Amino acid sequence: MRPPPRVGALHPISHVTAPTFACRSFPSLACSPSHVSLSRSALLRQQTRRYASTEAGAPTVGSRLRNLAVGATLLLGFGVIFVYVTDTRSSIHKYVIVPGLRTAYRDPEEAHHVGNNALKRLWEMGMHPRERGNPDLNQDLTIEVFGHTLLNPIGTSAGIDKHADIPDPLFAIGPAIIEIGGTTPLPQDGNDKPRVFRLSSQNALINRYGLNSEGADHVAMRLRRRVRAFAYSLGYGYDADAERRVLDGGAGVPPGSLNAGKLLAVNIATNKTTPKEDVEAVTNDYVYCVDRLAPYADILVVNVSSPNTPGLRTLQQTEPLKKILTGVVDAARSVDRKIKPAVMVKVSPDEDSDEQVAGICEAVWASGVDGVIVGNTTNRRPQPLPHLQNLTPLEEQHLLETGGFSGPHLFERTVALVKKYRQLLNERPASTETPSRPKGSLEAEADRIKASIKASTAVAPTENPNDVVASIDTGVIPFKDMSEKEESEKQPLFKLPTDRFYDQSKSEQDSLKSNNDSSEVERHRLRSIQDALEKLPPKAERNVSNDRPKVIFATGGITNGKQALEVLNAGASVAMVYTALVYGGAGTISRIKDEMRAEIKGQKGQKRKKSRS
Ligand SMILES: Cc1cc2nc3c(=O)[nH]c(=O)nc-3n(C[C@H](O)[C@H](O)[C@H](O)COP(=O)(O)O)c2cc1C
Repeated sequence: MRPPPRVGALHPISHVTAPTFACRSFPSLACSPSHVSLSRSALLRQQTRRYASTEAGAPTVGSRLRNLAVGATLLLGFGVIFVYVTDTRSSIHKYVIVPGLRTAYRDPEEAHHVGNNALKRLWEMGMHPRERGNPDLNQDLTIEVFGHTLLNPIGTSAGIDKHADIPDPLFAIGPAIIEIGGTTPLPQDGNDKPRVFRLSSQNALINRYGLNSEGADHVAMRLRRRVRAFAYSLGYGYDADAERRVLDGGAGVPPGSLNAGKLLAVNIATNKTTPKEDVEAVTNDYVYCVDRLAPYADILVVNVSSPNTPGLRTLQQTEPLKKILTGVVDAARSVDRKIKPAVMVKVSPDEDSDEQVAGICEAVWASGVDGVIVGNTTNRRPQPLPHLQNLTPLEEQHLLETGGFSGPHLFERTVALVKKYRQLLNERPASTETPSRPKGSLEAEADRIKASIKASTAVAPTENPNDVVASIDTGVIPFKDMSEKEESEKQPLFKLPTDRFYDQSKSEQDSLKSNNDSSEVERHRLRSIQDALEKLPPKAERNVSNDRPKVIFATGGITNGKQALEVLNAGASVAMVYTALVYGGAGTISRIKDEMRAEIKGQKGQKRKKSRS
C-alpha cells in the first residue's frame, strides 16, 4: 500500500502561485492564505486528504495523557529552573554568569553594561534575580539609620548604577541601601576608553572612569518616572499630585527607595570642566545636583573623593569643604518635600593623616552634614594579597594603569579609617562651637527658651514617631544582635531631636503655633522664639543639626560577612560593597548577610560556652 500523500504534495506546480511555492519550499516564511490560488477541485481534494490524515492521527486517551505528562514535566522543569536561576543564593551567579561575562567581554566596562542591561530587562519581565524567602524579616540584622529602621546594614556603593537604570533590581538582590551615581550637573563623557582594568587573581579592579554621567536632569527624569510609576501602581495616578503624595511619604515608604526598610542614596559630583579653585562655582555644581535630585533621594552623597577628576580631592581641605557642604546642606533642607534627605560626604582613603581627617571632621560639624561615607578607590598600589601572589603578565601591566584601585586589599585601611573618623566625629570640635557671630549669641537665648518649651511640652522620646535614632558604635561594643533583647538594649543608641529632617524653623513655628491658644505664657514664649530665630543668621550657619551624632558608612574592600561586622564594630552603621559584587555576582549581598548571621550565631555560642565553663 502506498503511504498517504503529504498534504499539498499532489498539487501540480501549475496550480500554485510563486509565493505559495516559496512558502512550501521554505516553511519558515510566514505565508498568508491570500498567496495561495488553487483550483476548486484541488482544494476539495486537499480538504478531503487533510481530514483523512487528522483521522489517522486522532489522539487516544493514552497519548493525551502522555502529552499532558510531558507538558507538566516541562512546565515543572522550567519552574524549577526559573526559581533556581532567579534565586540570589544559587551558585550559578558566581560560578557561571560572572565567569561567562568575563570571558565573553574582555573589556570590564562592556561586561558591566551588558550585566546592567540584562538586569534591567529581566526586571521588566519579572525574571530578575532576587533574595527569596525574605530572610531580613527575621529582623536579626536591622539597624537604625537617619530615623529609619533598615532591614540590614549592607549597601551597594556608587558607580554600579551611575545613571539610575537599575535601582529596583539592585534592591531585589538584598541590600538595604543602594547608592546611584556619581552624577554631575551637566552630562560628561568621562575619560577615554579603556578605563577599567581587571586584576582577577586579586578580585580587584582599577578604574579611571572620570565620572562619566548622563547629567543630573536626565537622572532626575528617570527617578521621577520611577516615582510616578510607583504612584500609579498604588492607584494614585501618574500626575504631579500623585508624585507629590509619594514624595511626601503618603505611601508609607521612604520617598527615595520606595521600599520599606530601605534607602536610596544619590552620589553627586562637580563637572570636570568646573575650575576646582573656584569654590563658588564648584558649590553651585553640587547645589544644582541637589535641586534636581534631592526630591528623589533619601540620602545625598557629596563626592569629593573620586581620584579620576583632577583637583576634586583638593576640595577635602577644610575651608572649601565647609563652604561646599554648607551650600549642599542649605539646598537639601529647602527642598520642597516634607521629609528632607540626609546629607553625607564621601571621603578618600588616601587623605588619611590625622590633620586631614580632623579638618574634614571640622567641616562636617561646621556645615551640619549628617554623616560620612568613609572610603573610595585608592591611588596607592597595595601589595598583592599573600595567598594570591601570582599576577599574570597582563595583570602586572594593569597594575601600572592610572586610576583608583578597589578590592579586598583596601579592607584593613577602611577599618582603621572608620575608627579614626568615629573617634573624631563622636565629639564636636571646639572650633565649630564658636561660630563667627556677634557675641551674646541669639542661639543661646533661643535654645534656652526652646529647652524650657520642650520641658513643658515634652513627650517621652520613645513615644514620638518622628524621633530619629542613630546607631553610634564606639568600637568596643559588638554589633547589635537584635534577637537578644538585653544585648540590644546595651547598644548605644542615641535618640535625636525630632526635627532631624524638617525645616526646623518652620516646624518649630508650626508646632508652637498650635500651642498658641493654650496659654498666655506659651504665647509669650512663642513670640520670643520667633523673634530670636528671625534674628539668626542663615540656616546652615546655625549648625542646626550639630548636636546630633554623625553617621558613618564604610566602603573599601568589604568582601564577606566577617568584614562587614568588623566595620560595623569599628563604628560604621552600614557596610557598602562594589568590587565584591563584580566578582561574586548577584548572590554577593545574600552571602554576606548569611555569613554575618553565621558569625553572630558562632559568637553567641562561644559566649554561652564561656559563661558555662
Ligand atoms: C568601576 C568603579 C566605578 C566607581 N564609580 C564611583 C562613582 O561614580 N562615585 C563614587 O563616589 N565612587 C565610585 N566608585 C567607588 C566605589 O563606590 C567604592 O567606594 C570603591 O570601589 C571601594 O569599594 P570596593 O572595594 O567595595 O569596591 C567606583 C568604583 C569602581 C570600581
